[in-house]
Amino acid sequence: MEPIEVTERVWERLLAVRDGRFCTCCGSWSPGERAALALYGPLARRDLGPMTVAQIGQSLDGRVATVTGDARDISGPDGLAHLHRMRALVDGVVIGVGTALHDTPRLTVRLCPGPSPVRVVIDPRGRLPNDAPLLHCQATRRIVIQGVDLPRPDGVEVVRLAAPDGAFDPAEILAALHALGLQSLLIEGGGTTISHFIEAGCLTRLQVSVAPLLIGGGQLGLTLPHPTEKLSDALRPETRVFSLGSDVVFDCALAPDAQAALDPVHAKPRRVAGS
Ligand SMILES: NC(=O)c1ccc[n+]([C@@H]2O[C@H](COP(=O)([O-])OP(=O)(O)OC[C@H]3O[C@@H](n4cnc5c(N)ncnc54)[C@H](OP(=O)(O)O)[C@@H]3O)[C@@H](O)[C@H]2O)c1
Repeated sequence: MEPIEVTERVWERLLAVRDGRFCTCCGSWSPGERAALALYGPLARRDLGPMTVAQIGQSLDGRVATVTGDARDISGPDGLAHLHRMRALVDGVVIGVGTALHDTPRLTVRLCPGPSPVRVVIDPRGRLPNDAPLLHCQATRRIVIQGVDLPRPDGVEVVRLAAPDGAFDPAEILAALHALGLQSLLIEGGGTTISHFIEAGCLTRLQVSVAPLLIGGGQLGLTLPHPTEKLSDALRPETRVFSLGSDVVFDCALAPDAQAALDPVHAKPRRVAGS
């Protein structure tokens, strides 16, 4: 396990990488700073082409909420700071309407310097009310992906997709967001939304952050719509493990070229379709 050390200078470098002003390979870094570059570099880099990472924070027993639905702050303080760093490095953050209704998250960057991402809600049936705070911050773009004709407040961009059997194809969601200029995306949850992306093979990386608490019951994090029946068929991604401090993160490379992106020197820039 690699402990990360997010010093001011390594964070400044990562923001510069995000803006295309620097690479992750040059410089003299401590082992903890190098681990931070390995963990966050693939999210910051834009030269590798479109990137979609999902992050879920869960307990030791794989839960994201108690039996009464209490879900706030399963992650420890370093897990929360990690989530805000991820938000600061991507173009857009995507949540399902379940999380939007349950948590009313702000999806802004508050625990580290950096820009807040574009907010995207997947809402096939139009369940998110138009007075939801998420739709009313003028400071960032707001996008709703929906399957119904429903007017949204001024300034909110609406993407209308077909939802055969009630579900959008995650590949179509990504294509629509890429067309809107969002190349690097964080799927922040909840588990239902992330599971759709995993099963569709639409994630570059999956990060599972584990906090050392046992809940004993309640909502599970990831449950795929069509789980494997044999362990020999289970997904076994290349994984690196990082200590955030209070929490541990398993950083899994799901796309074929995602593992290479961990190596700041040898990862080859990928051509973006149409570029
Ligand atoms: N620990 C964490 O990291 C974390 C992060 C976020 C949320 N949470 C917790 O997770 C819980 C909510 O998660 P959840 O799994 O119940 O809900 P969710 O993933 O937030 O939202 C699921 C809903 O979003 C819509 N949706 C998502 N993907 C879709 C697709 N491909 N096609 C069509 N519709 C899609 C569907 O809406 P319809 O139901 O309208 O069809 C679906 O039921 C809350 O307790 C929240 O606190 C935890």
